[in-house]
Parts: sequence; C-alpha cells; structure tokens
Amino acid sequence: MLERKIIPTEDGSVTIFIPEWNESYHSKHGAIQEAYHVFIQNGLDFFRDKNEISILEIGLGTGLNALITMVETFGGNQKINYTGIEKYPVSKEEISLLNFPASLKEFNSKIKFEIPEILQFYNELMTAEWDDFVEINPNFKLKKIQADFLDFDYPENKFDLVYFDAFGARVQPELWTEELFEKIYKSMKTNAVFTTYSAKGSVRRALQAVGLKVEKRPGPPGKREMLIAKK
Ligand SMILES: C[S@@+](CC[C@H](N)C(=O)[O-])C[C@H]1O[C@@H](n2cnc3c(N)ncnc32)[C@H](O)[C@@H]1O
Repeated sequence: MLERKIIPTEDGSVTIFIPEWNESYHSKHGAIQEAYHVFIQNGLDFFRDKNEISILEIGLGTGLNALITMVETFGGNQKINYTGIEKYPVSKEEISLLNFPASLKEFNSKIKFEIPEILQFYNELMTAEWDDFVEINPNFKLKKIQADFLDFDYPENKFDLVYFDAFGARVQPELWTEELFEKIYKSMKTNAVFTTYSAKGSVRRALQAVGLKVEKRPGPPGKREMLIAKK
C-alpha cells in the first residue's frame, strides 16, 4: 500500500496526498471547489429536473463527491442511485481527519444543513455496507463496490451520469484508455454524461474513439480546461 497523508488545500478543505506519486485525491487549489465545479456544475446540474438518476463514480475515495451530491439533493424530489467503485477504501482514521462537513458549509453558504447533520450524512456514507444498495435516506441509495475499475463487470445501459475521478494519467495511464472507456460507454444510457477534471488530448481522443461526443469546458481554478462527454 502506498503511504497516504492528509494535507490542506487552498479552499480550506483537506485532501489525501500520495508522496511517492506526488499525486493528491483532489486539486490543491481547493478540493471542494474542484468537486463542485467538475461534478456538480458540469454533471449533476444537467439532470436537476429528472425524477430519478443513476450515477457511477469511478474512484469513490474519500466520498467527497458522494457527500456533495447527497447534500445537494437531500429533501428534494429527485432520487439518486449512486454506485461508487473503489479498490483501496480510506480507513476510519483517515475519515476522522477529513474536515469536509465544516468546509462544505463554509464553501457553500446556501447549504441548508448544519455541520453536525452533514457530518452524520458523511458518516452514514462512509460506514455503509459494501457491495449492496443501502438506502442512506429517502432520496439517496448508495452501492459501494470494492473492485478494480479494470476488472469490474459494468452493468449495461444503466447510468445517467459518470463521475470519472481516477488519479491522473501521469501516474495511472492504464485507467485513461479506450479499453476502460468502452466498458463505461456501454454502461451509460443514451444522453448520459461523463465528466472528468482531465483535459488531456489523449483522453479526449480515447473518449471520442469509443463513440462519445466530447466537449471542452473551462476548468476549476488552477486548471484551464476539463472535459465532459455525452452519449
Ligand atoms: C483521485 S482519487 C479519488 C477521489 C475521490 N473521488 C474523492 O473524492 O476522494 C482516485 C481513487 O481511485 C482509487 N483507485 C486507484 N486505482 C484504482 C483501481 N485500479 N481500481 C479501483 N480504484 C482505484 C484510489 O484508491 C482513489 O481513491
């Protein structure tokens, strides 16, 4: 197992850093800021008026994207079925050091929940059983799957939205390939959206090669561009 350290990012939220790879789970310019920009504004927001959507996250990691998705939809009319794949789950000790509930509240003052409530959501997410759908609340069903992205048997024609949040191609080039994108493409419904922080030319071409319609979008602070891709 690679060593993992918790480090601060510029928006006050923390992230996990892997010294051996010089790679972090989120942008050093702001973990929460990046998550909102890439996965909410360029993902969930396209589907706000749909009654029920299924989301696939490639790299559940710290659960930050799942937490924000839950906070953004809790108490509304939309039902979320959230599947997160992760091979190396974060430990209880790491979870206790992640300050997402307080940082989220500080980042987005429109969130109607208090910090202890957000902390409760987060704990429910992170302690949910693996490998089965768990109803975290009436709006949010979660299935955490401990598996390798490359070996997982993706269900066909299932997901409306894909959060692709793997480590960068610099450290894990095998995850940004036509081979994996083809499997994900098949698991997406028609009109589904794939969103990722990466804007690399090779990633864009591999997404196009499997049949997705790719669009460059402005990236979060610290990054000029990112990609979304539609089926
Ligand atoms: C960029 S981080 C994820 C960030 C995550 N979305 C979050 O908000 O914390 C990438 C994640 O992919 C996981 N991972 C790396 N290689 C994997 C593989 N081959 N199969 C499954 N998970 C993998 C890592 O353990 C890490 O949690």
